[in-house]
Amino acid sequence: MKKIGIIGCGRQAPKHIKGYIENGINDIFVSDIINEKAQHLAAEFGINSLGIEELINSKEIDIYSVCTPPKTHDGIIEKLISNNKHFLCEKPISLSTDKLKRYIQMIKSNNTIAMGGYIYKFSPAYISLRETIHQKKIDINKAYLRVASPGSDAPWQHSILDGGGVINELVVHMVDLVQWYFGPIKEIKTIKKNTYSLNKIIKSDNIKQDAENYIFLKLVTESDVFVDIEADLISKEFVQFFEVNSKNFNSFCSIQPNIPLFIDNKIFKNFEFKNLYISQIEYFLNCIDKKISHTVSTLEESVSICNYIDKLKLD
Ligand SMILES: NC(=O)c1ccc[n+]([C@@H]2O[C@H](COP(=O)([O-])OP(=O)(O)OC[C@H]3O[C@@H](n4cnc5c(N)ncnc54)[C@H](O)[C@@H]3O)[C@@H](O)[C@H]2O)c1
Repeated sequence: MKKIGIIGCGRQAPKHIKGYIENGINDIFVSDIINEKAQHLAAEFGINSLGIEELINSKEIDIYSVCTPPKTHDGIIEKLISNNKHFLCEKPISLSTDKLKRYIQMIKSNNTIAMGGYIYKFSPAYISLRETIHQKKIDINKAYLRVASPGSDAPWQHSILDGGGVINELVVHMVDLVQWYFGPIKEIKTIKKNTYSLNKIIKSDNIKQDAENYIFLKLVTESDVFVDIEADLISKEFVQFFEVNSKNFNSFCSIQPNIPLFIDNKIFKNFEFKNLYISQIEYFLNCIDKKISHTVSTLEESVSICNYIDKLKLD
């Protein structure tokens, strides 16, 4: 029977736990740098909590989800790889291309699965649109991707030093979608960034906010698709959509379950609400069981995402 370790017990952890439970696994252990958070989450789901080192070094647990802030991923991943563990790590897996390349070399010899948490690729609407474009060989030439979110109450999310900000939080998903739909990015043409409001009130504390919370960028792919991406962490509500155009085709797609997939200005399909983490974790587990080969959200994909992200940060 599979045993699962979850590292980090904040917002993402319950989604992963539900994903494993819905895939028939109940033997789940959670851990957090703040012990009480792990104990509280364990009690909520009727599962167990362990100390971080005990969890990572457990001889019985082979499969892990990393749900901690981005700056902490490397320290955790290095230990997991050294211990020959499979892991699904929330995005961005690492903020360093050199480290990602080193992880690729390390896992080559230990035959484990290392996957990034790029959830959009498990959205039925996004899968359906991509299949339509590919099957009908539609030559897309323009795309607009919009994502906006209020962000979370966690101070790290608004701090450069802690790996927060709109680029790591939201733009990585959009860059991943661009690569998945249209292939490699040839050039980033325009980058406009801003940090609106240098202080943010979180639970009545005034938190310093130095990470950018708005970005607009124009890029072109090697397949000659001209793409605009606009993302912010200042919206009051989560908003996400993707619009693609060619001479004889247009489509409007969203990860939001209440928004249908539109093709050529008509509703193409309504998708029922689905917990995307169930599909993502099913895929991860199937790769571990070698039922399918691991081709989605690989470390190699993360290397190229990280390269583009570095360019956005440097500008
Ligand atoms: N896929 C998505 O759509 C999506 C959405 C939101 C966040 N994320 C990503 O998920 C990750 C976690 O985000 P979140 O919103 O759940 O954060 P969070 O702040 O809500 O939770 C993080 C938890 O990790 C704990 N933690 C911090 N350092 C640790 C360490 N070294 N070891 C163990 N525990 C530690 C914290 O105490 C906290 O409980 C981030 O990488 C974020 O970018 C992904």
